[in-house]
Amino acid sequence: MTHSTQPASGAGNDKGRSRTKGTHRRAFLGGMAGTALAAVTAGGTAIALLTNATQTKAHAAGTTLTIPDLLEGTASGGTTTYTLEAKTGTSEVLSGVTSTTAGYNQSFLGPTLKWTSGDTVLLNITNSLTEDTTVHFHGAHVPPSMDGGPQNAFASGKTWSPTFTVKDEAKTLWYHPHALGTTAEQATHGLAGMIIVEDDSAATAALPSTYGTDDIPIILQCLATDTAGEIKYNLTGYLANGLSFPLLCNGTNVDATTLTFTATKKRTRFRLLNASPSDIITVQRGDGGTLTQIATDQGYLTEATEVKSIRLVAGARAEFVMELSDAVTLEAVVTTGWVRGGSGTYEFLTVTPDASDTPEDLPALNTITRYDTSGFTARTITLGQSGTSMTVNGSVGTSMSSMAMISTTLGAEEVWTVKNSTQLEHSFHLHDVPFQLISINGADPTGVQLGWYDTFEVVGGGTIKIAMKFTDFADDTYMYMLHCHLLQHEDEGMMAALMVTES
Ligand code: C2O
Ligand code: CU
Ligand code: CU
Repeated sequence: MTHSTQPASGAGNDKGRSRTKGTHRRAFLGGMAGTALAAVTAGGTAIALLTNATQTKAHAAGTTLTIPDLLEGTASGGTTTYTLEAKTGTSEVLSGVTSTTAGYNQSFLGPTLKWTSGDTVLLNITNSLTEDTTVHFHGAHVPPSMDGGPQNAFASGKTWSPTFTVKDEAKTLWYHPHALGTTAEQATHGLAGMIIVEDDSAATAALPSTYGTDDIPIILQCLATDTAGEIKYNLTGYLANGLSFPLLCNGTNVDATTLTFTATKKRTRFRLLNASPSDIITVQRGDGGTLTQIATDQGYLTEATEVKSIRLVAGARAEFVMELSDAVTLEAVVTTGWVRGGSGTYEFLTVTPDASDTPEDLPALNTITRYDTSGFTARTITLGQSGTSMTVNGSVGTSMSSMAMISTTLGAEEVWTVKNSTQLEHSFHLHDVPFQLISINGADPTGVQLGWYDTFEVVGGGTIKIAMKFTDFADDTYMYMLHCHLLQHEDEGMMAALMVTES
């Protein structure tokens, strides 16, 4: 069994597993990591969560797209209850190599949760790791005490049971750990899953919604692993020699395999999640055609919008539909603006149509009233760096007491200038409420940028302006977070607290 240990070697296709479809391109363009700074690596990156390993075949090599299980809730007394267990296991992250991984209810990744807008949900989440964890509902508009931020961390062996009413409209959310200092470690090992919110809107009724048939989750992750399959998640780990950077689609390595999906309905909806710790992933059609984008992070666009590609920073989501007459291969272009150099294009999924139905034209999807920010309170959020520490407004957010705190009041309307004073790429994420983009590096937003977001790219030296309203929830103990969604940056302190109190 051979596999590439040097991303730049061009040997990445020789994985001992035959290719099944088309021509596979995997072009790494150089690699900076692991040369000059290799001496920093001391091998001191052993992680603490590795016991009680179980092995499953859920993500064994194969060419059919794996659809994550849908976790059925139990409805009773007006509340739907879901049971999750964070635990460790093993999985094939690098082709032919067994990695120690973690997942919810399984060895890698977690089941998809489906919530209905207006319902009350209760999650019983058990921590079977050997260290603290917490589960954050990324993008959900929930009370700060239920948000799963660092203040909700709970110990090994404990169960945390958040409950709330689903206030979100239809959208694609996700869940992942958020304890201080261990988010990158836990999420990169596989603790992540998708949440689908459904509502009773005309758009939802018109769009494909049969999970696994015409409503398809696509979780993309570019991870760093060493030749033994150990997943790297921090600076020391990323500077090791001989790393590979496998791309996974729903937990399956697509470095040398193009997955297949047969579309039995003419129109298929895809929900993209970039669950990578750092990389930017751009999804496009291999034949140069357009994707019909219907949603951004925080729900439907005003109307279905033809786009050449969909660019997702770490943590971001988007939805699109395709109506195919011929097979189309989807490509993921992985861009690393970060510790390692290089990028690659992966043909990760071939969709083959086998349908004879004729879908109705899509209706208008949503009404988005653009904020008039003239009366909004202005604030500046500066993403900075001090040595190997990362900062927000000058503070290193590695503990609740050291992080910057943004204080606001219920009902506040604000416009934030999010300024990247570093040369690194950041992925700015705000908990609690969706935001609108007001400007991106001085330019007005256009097209899909006019949708709702919770996570957006801030390029090195760049600035975005965003506007939001702090509705529904206030608390004087529990805080929301705002941070870079490059998980290493988050763990290194690029995180601040947001306290929303009663006015
Ligand atoms: Cu997806 Cu504060 O996180
Ligand atoms: Cu979040
Ligand atoms: Cu960052």
